[in-house]
Amino acid sequence: MPAVERIAVIGSGTMGSGIAQVSAASGIETILIDTGKAQLEKARNTIDTSLQRMAKKGAITEAQGIETAKRISFTIDITDAEDADLVIEAVFEREDVKREIWQKVDALCKPEAMFASNTSSISITAIAAATKRPELFIGMHFFNPVPVMKLVEVIRGNKTSDATCAKIVQLAKEMGKSPVEVKDYPGFVSNRVLMPLINEAIFAVYEGVATAESVDEVFKLGMAHPMGPLTLADFIGLDVCLNIMEVLQTGFGDPKYRPCPLLKQMVAAGKLGRKSGEGFYKYQG
Ligand code: CAA
Repeated sequence: MPAVERIAVIGSGTMGSGIAQVSAASGIETILIDTGKAQLEKARNTIDTSLQRMAKKGAITEAQGIETAKRISFTIDITDAEDADLVIEAVFEREDVKREIWQKVDALCKPEAMFASNTSSISITAIAAATKRPELFIGMHFFNPVPVMKLVEVIRGNKTSDATCAKIVQLAKEMGKSPVEVKDYPGFVSNRVLMPLINEAIFAVYEGVATAESVDEVFKLGMAHPMGPLTLADFIGLDVCLNIMEVLQTGFGDPKYRPCPLLKQMVAAGKLGRKSGEGFYKYQG
């Protein structure tokens, strides 16, 4: 028996559209929800492009790509989530925004529906507390690009039940992913380790130890990273990196997590990486 039959994904940005794609690709009826039609249209194009790319590479057949696309419906009406067995939220990283959405979703979904947040660092326990079903609430942290990256970090909140965790682990496997279970502490495992690495790489540039290009070369050639830490920071978004460093600093109360002043300054200047056209590197198109 499949872990779930119907998934609603809230938030159709890079992560939400990727999650909807892998959900539909594993045979699940998937609803992608956002507040604006333009955002949903963009998501549809992103998904189509990704599926075409996979078909071209032979990773899937063209027919599989078409079937996957057909399994996704797009809507601006959040009440369309009411029949979902699982709701996955992938909206931007603000606890108050997430809590407000979850309160709404909690009121309209069936009582046995499970809830998952794709947050990259906000406490699952804190978000779950906005609902009346914290035992059915869990973290499902996907990685960008979602169709490619194998990991799903499965985060157990303080009240997440064993049954919820087991079903989500099963689901992640059915999606072709490799789930890794972790506990709910700031940054979980992925960003607790990755972000201080990126932040330290930014300090190396800030202090003039090396250029961004040289720092990246060290990691690509010396540690076989597919992208150097500053290219990766641009890929993730410098605002996201800063936000996660602040979560780590506040959550642990340890000054070793202080964000580099250069990171703060670049974010203040609107240099957010790929999405704004400039970060440590310049991007066109
Ligand atoms: N959809 C489908 N397929 C895609 C894709 C997409 N959106 N993006 C890339 N691919 C596929 C390509 O078709 C290609 O397939 P083959 O191997 O079959 O040829 C493969 O992925 C590699 O892509 P490219 O050849 O275009 O480029 P690349 O070799 O430079 O790889 C990359 C691109 C996969 C992004 C690679 O650079 C990489 O792994 N980078 C690191 C990514 C990473 O660390 N992500 C995690 C970020 S942290 C995060 O997401 C969470 C957080 O909380 C901050």
